[in-house]
Amino acid sequence: MVSSQVDLHAQYGGVVPEIASRAHVELLTPVVARALVEAGIADDHVDAVGVTIGPGLVGALLVGVSAAKALALVWDVPFVAVNHLEAHLYAAFLEEPELELPLVVVLASGGHTMLVAMEGHGRYRVLGSTIDDAAGEAFDKVARYLGLGYPGGPAIDELSVEGDPNAISLPRAILDEGYDFSFSGLKTAVVNYVRKHPEVATADVAASFQEAVVDVLVAKARRAARELGAKGLCLAGGVAANSRLRERLLDACVQDGIRGFLPGRSMCTDNAAMVAAAAWWRLRSDGPSPLDVGAYPNLSLPVIS
Ligand code: KG4
Ligand code: ZN
Repeated sequence: MVSSQVDLHAQYGGVVPEIASRAHVELLTPVVARALVEAGIADDHVDAVGVTIGPGLVGALLVGVSAAKALALVWDVPFVAVNHLEAHLYAAFLEEPELELPLVVVLASGGHTMLVAMEGHGRYRVLGSTIDDAAGEAFDKVARYLGLGYPGGPAIDELSVEGDPNAISLPRAILDEGYDFSFSGLKTAVVNYVRKHPEVATADVAASFQEAVVDVLVAKARRAARELGAKGLCLAGGVAANSRLRERLLDACVQDGIRGFLPGRSMCTDNAAMVAAAAWWRLRSDGPSPLDVGAYPNLSLPVIS
């Protein structure tokens, strides 16, 4: 069950934190109730309550954490604190519980873009991350500049089908070096190009921009998989819903003879099923979380040293 707030925020061109927290307060109880009804599960059949404790907007996180603690107490089941980034990594396990590890995961959302080596359950190494904008943020900013609305990723994805990905030559920053990413120069290059060529077809701009992002994400993931001897490549985070990225990543996997794992598109963007999947693994490995856990807006992925 996903209750999206996109329509509430679209008129402002991005998420408004105060509106997000209030909508969480109003919607959380009916959404939980409806999820139980649709799943045909009575509340005394719930095994545990998992919840995102961060990273994210503190107001929205606090609403979720408080509600989850209350439900865990009332239902007398374990409370499990989940890292939002780890939850994205677990989206793929919902469809493929037997994923072969180690895996290289491209984790790209509105707030994060990183390349993660997943060596075991809960065992991650961050190989690289963005030094400026996240990939989803770049999609959103370019879409806003092109007048395509919010959120920008799906709009650019859709329009790109009608455009030529090679129409405009755009930068692929730090393509051949290391595993870090940079997308803010690409965004500026798009703006400069459109200013100089106002007659350009928006679909060509969208497709060329998208291709530049996808080129870098796929090239680095592929190189990492080769260097680490990974069994497969996996996509996670909202940007993993991008159709061109999905197509190009699978092609790369076929060429390199490794497996490609793509969570269903609705499992890539934020959802509670991925949180439940991560909670299940965390409960097995660490047991229940203490009830004095708070909300952590800047939480990072737990890594092994
Ligand atoms: O993971 P997510 O749902 O929320 C965060 O945790 O940030 O990711 C949202 C991001 C937004 O920037 C959105 O534009 C992007 O994912 N996104 C996409 C697509 N669908 C969502 N980007 C490119 N193509 C898509 N189809
Ligand atoms: Zn997310």
